[in-house]
Amino acid sequence: MKGIEMTTDEADSTGGPLPFDTSRAHQARIYDYLLGGKDNYAADRAAAEAALKIYPEWAFTARANRAFLGRVVRYLAGEAGIRQFLDIGTGIPTAGNLHQVAQQIGPETRVVYVDYDPVVLAHARALLTSGEAGATEYIDADLRDTGTILAQATQLLDFSQPVAVTLIAILHAIPDSDNPHAIVASLMDAVPSGSYLALSCLGPEFLDPEALRETQDVNGRLIQQQMTWRNREQVARFFDGTDLVEPGLVRVEEWRPEPGPGDTERSPLWCGVGRKR
Ligand SMILES: C[S@@+](CC[C@H](N)C(=O)[O-])C[C@H]1O[C@@H](n2cnc3c(N)ncnc32)[C@H](O)[C@@H]1O
Repeated sequence: MKGIEMTTDEADSTGGPLPFDTSRAHQARIYDYLLGGKDNYAADRAAAEAALKIYPEWAFTARANRAFLGRVVRYLAGEAGIRQFLDIGTGIPTAGNLHQVAQQIGPETRVVYVDYDPVVLAHARALLTSGEAGATEYIDADLRDTGTILAQATQLLDFSQPVAVTLIAILHAIPDSDNPHAIVASLMDAVPSGSYLALSCLGPEFLDPEALRETQDVNGRLIQQQMTWRNREQVARFFDGTDLVEPGLVRVEEWRPEPGPGDTERSPLWCGVGRKR
């Protein structure tokens, strides 16, 4: 389409046109842009720049979320001893993909990735670079289709053993009308006691009402998916049936920060990690 340019040579390297609309911004590609990646289009950059004008901390937020993912996976693979991950809303591969972090600690770790963005699918092979002792798989599916995800995931994961379900920066893409709490519950019902749920999602408490209204307005006009911001109580309900590990529900940059001069209190993202009872 005129005016829309690909910024990567790889995005069309799967051998044929991908059936997706690059004229509207999409979450995976906006996130890629904010992280400094090249797998984004003019519409994604325009939406990201419009959002940055309202809330300049979006780039920090993307980095802080990605850093949270790394710390969570190190915690789960290390202290919690988890060797199986079901990562839904994987995003475009970038530095520190989940299996790379987890397999540094447990080389035998198995990871099933799930996303519904065609650009992520085009790069899926970059997610399939497991070390020999472990394994990775990619499922092209929508989080709302938990039946398909669980059926396909059982080909790699043993659901009689603990699994970490990671839903990092995805649940705000699921509107209330699709009942995200039931979706999370059905995933957690499929895994045994001792499994984990880790997530991050947008929280309205962190933006002043004017910035939140303007952000939602830009979002509604420019981005394919509507974002649903959920408050602390709504986020806490995702963890029903689990015990939250310390420090509980906090901003992503506040979850077990590593030593050093870390920035705090700038992202509008709730996060938490719960262990299934
Ligand atoms: C902001 S990115 C997060 C990537 C990664 N989890 C991270 O935190 O670094 C969110 C991802 O969720 C995916 N996503 C959003 N809604 C989805 C849905 N209903 N089903 C599957 N994937 C979805 C998007 O395509 C995007 O790749």
